[in-house]
Amino acid sequence: MIKEIFFQQMTPSKILAIETSCDDTAAAVLLGKKVLSSIVSSQTIHSAYGGVVPELASRDHMKNIVPIVNEALVQAGVDLADISAIAYTQGPGLLGSLMVGCCFAKAKAMALGKPLISVNHMQAHVLSNFLDTERSPELPALCLTVSGGHTQLVYVKDFLEMEVIGETLDDAMGEAFDKIGKMMGLPYPAGVAIDEQAQRGDENAFQFPDTHVPGLDFSFSGIKTGFLNFLNKETARDAFFLEKNKSDICASIQKKLIDMAMQKLDAAVRHTSVKTIALAGGVAANSGLRARVALYAQANDLNFFSPHKKYCTDNAAMIGIVGHYKFLAKQFQSVEEAVPIPQMKF
Ligand code: KG4
Ligand code: ZN
Repeated sequence: MIKEIFFQQMTPSKILAIETSCDDTAAAVLLGKKVLSSIVSSQTIHSAYGGVVPELASRDHMKNIVPIVNEALVQAGVDLADISAIAYTQGPGLLGSLMVGCCFAKAKAMALGKPLISVNHMQAHVLSNFLDTERSPELPALCLTVSGGHTQLVYVKDFLEMEVIGETLDDAMGEAFDKIGKMMGLPYPAGVAIDEQAQRGDENAFQFPDTHVPGLDFSFSGIKTGFLNFLNKETARDAFFLEKNKSDICASIQKKLIDMAMQKLDAAVRHTSVKTIALAGGVAANSGLRARVALYAQANDLNFFSPHKKYCTDNAAMIGIVGHYKFLAKQFQSVEEAVPIPQMKF
């Protein structure tokens, strides 16, 4: 098992990290585990379509990648020549988007004669818990990763050794937030807007049907249909139902989604007997979810960790922290072998 103490004795690496898996073009520079810069350019073009349009995403990455990487280097005050290695997201993600980051990283590594490090985006979400913090999770730990594309329960044995022990069979939790928000006319991605409205609402105002999935897997597609039926029924009775009750609806549906996640998290804690739990991914920024998991941890005598909110949604600093650990473990990739893997697993 790789020990943190061993890492601390080594000279800190300077990693240039690149993330282009979906609709955010991001670059970061890390000195060891310290984030010197983290630049994220979120593409706004997709909100008009209510979801990410892959073709437009890759075109935007092509435009953004050079200025974003340059900005990350300038803000960090680091010269390219002083970089130890270049880390990039190999997958999972959209093929065209991944291709931009992969080609860029390969070209930079070849031109500079520096090592190339491939990073799994989901592993990076988990390790975002180790960014810019004095108090980081003891391992082994259990991480609930909830994003727009994934919902996973990850058993984290070591920094680079993880196993998915449960995942969604259909929609991701963030996808459920976004699709339900779209039904309410909220802009994409709707998670933040639902979170904000929910803080002003009564979470017990409305009830939604339960869905049952065996084991540690999740399913969020049924709740989406349940919500649509609820909205149609209530709006047929009162055309202004949504406008009159928006905060209560947001609070109630958010509570339902959190209940669904908590049920599986609890089952996974019992299954693994871990003493440490963590959150990761865009939905980990949700204030309701953070509060519920914190309460759960307290009630069950568990240690609880969550990344800074800025490191929950997609960013390159989390790619950099995996780069840091892989650099120390000398896990490099040859530029010839570097190709995007849209369905990449751990
Ligand atoms: O991790 P992320 O940036 O991208 C993926 O890897 O998918 O996650 C984006 C997701 C979106 O579905 C967005 O609605 C959700 O995270 N999200 C939130 C919040 N902030 C972002 N969901 C609920 N509450 C939030 N505060
Ligand atoms: Zn992500």
